[in-house]
Amino acid sequence: MTSYPLEPFRIKSIEPIRRPSRAERAAAMKATGYNVFGLTYADIYIDLLTDSGTSAMSDRQWGALMQGDETYAGARSFAHLKEAVDSIFGFSHFVPTHQGRAAESILSGLLVEPGKYVPNNIHFDSTEANIRVHGGRPENFVIDEAADSTSRHPFKGNIDIAKLENFIQRVGPGNIPFGMITITNNAGGGQPVSLENLRQVSETYDKYGIPFFIDACRYAENAYFIKTREPGYAHKSTLEIARETFALADGATMSGKKDALVNIGGLLAMNDESLYQRACSELILREGFPTYGGLAGRDLEAMAVGLWEGLNEEYLAYRVGQTAYLAERLADVGAPIVEPPGAHAVYIDAGRLLPHIPREAFPGQALVVALYLEGGIRAIELGSSAFAHKDPDSGEMVYPLMELVRLALPRRVYTQTHLDYVANVMAVIVEKAASLRGFQIASAPPVMRHFTARFKPL
Ligand code: F0G
Repeated sequence: MTSYPLEPFRIKSIEPIRRPSRAERAAAMKATGYNVFGLTYADIYIDLLTDSGTSAMSDRQWGALMQGDETYAGARSFAHLKEAVDSIFGFSHFVPTHQGRAAESILSGLLVEPGKYVPNNIHFDSTEANIRVHGGRPENFVIDEAADSTSRHPFKGNIDIAKLENFIQRVGPGNIPFGMITITNNAGGGQPVSLENLRQVSETYDKYGIPFFIDACRYAENAYFIKTREPGYAHKSTLEIARETFALADGATMSGKKDALVNIGGLLAMNDESLYQRACSELILREGFPTYGGLAGRDLEAMAVGLWEGLNEEYLAYRVGQTAYLAERLADVGAPIVEPPGAHAVYIDAGRLLPHIPREAFPGQALVVALYLEGGIRAIELGSSAFAHKDPDSGEMVYPLMELVRLALPRRVYTQTHLDYVANVMAVIVEKAASLRGFQIASAPPVMRHFTARFKPL
């Protein structure tokens, strides 16, 4: 059996958890309309819904909280955050935001107009929604290997440069207000992007005068994959790799709730002075003054510390190792996982596990419900429930690449024993996979429906 690098920390504070009984779990599913977003803390045993805002902060971060400076404008805590952001990201300007989607909302609000296109490897749901509400068209150009969950391509988050360039030529660069890439590619299995690809993407956007923004939520995990997988980077530090990454772009959006190891926070960074000025005006309108951006001073402090901790290579070795361990245990019990595993989550290809459930009956949702009913484990569907939509031109349904279920690992939270439990529950589900049934939607809102939709078992 494999093992992973020991936790480079010990536990100082704990939070009790309890496994609800089978009857309680069944009742909770009925009450929430089979949507795990409706569950509450007491309903859940192991919460793998998200790695976002669920990190355990360090003693240094908790200490930093106490030093938060709550000055409205020009807080000392902003200066601390600025030191970290300038040093790691190196853009001319940045504003804090309360989380990643606020940065996306401001950027899209300033640059997207109806009918304009924004390319990416794969847009995350909040990015996609923020572009769509301004009438924009999010477009995905990830390499073909990303759709094959068995392909062990080391950088399955890469953009297909030929596809991207053809698209730019077809719609015209004037119809693309900015281009993106998401590192790591959350909606495509948490797969990393190589620096070689980042360079080519940057050159392509640059050739057509298109500003290039990185969705940088998991930039440190991406840097660690570059260090360990890309030829020529083994001797570079994750900090050097991060700097090399951001030097290729014109700006970035980031949710600090991931690699900055905080429970709330984000940022929007850019080089363009006039864009920065306009972003500040938007920020003041929606988030707050540019030196706090919707956060308390203490949140800025915790993020300043967390940005550095997230880049620590001993931590990243443990982090990536823990996820690889869970992936291997799940594969051992017969779960079809997306290979190779990413850093923040293991993704199960529910389309392969449940081939008898058609896409319109949400095989991913069936697996999510089974994980909860069987083990009190909360996962998230990142398949047709989250991403299928009607094409605005043809009116036809567009389905995502795969019917994925994500088991996201909160940072520094669960132990190996917890992961072994998850694998044991999965073993039971794999055994009875053929008996699982699909779902239909009972009610759902038009945008980001998977958060609040209610389902009916078929
Ligand atoms: N971009 C990516 C790639 C993300 O994964 C997320 C959030 C965001 C942007 C938005 O950041 O939540 O701070 O507003 N992903 C979370 C997840 C919600 O569970 O993967 P946010």
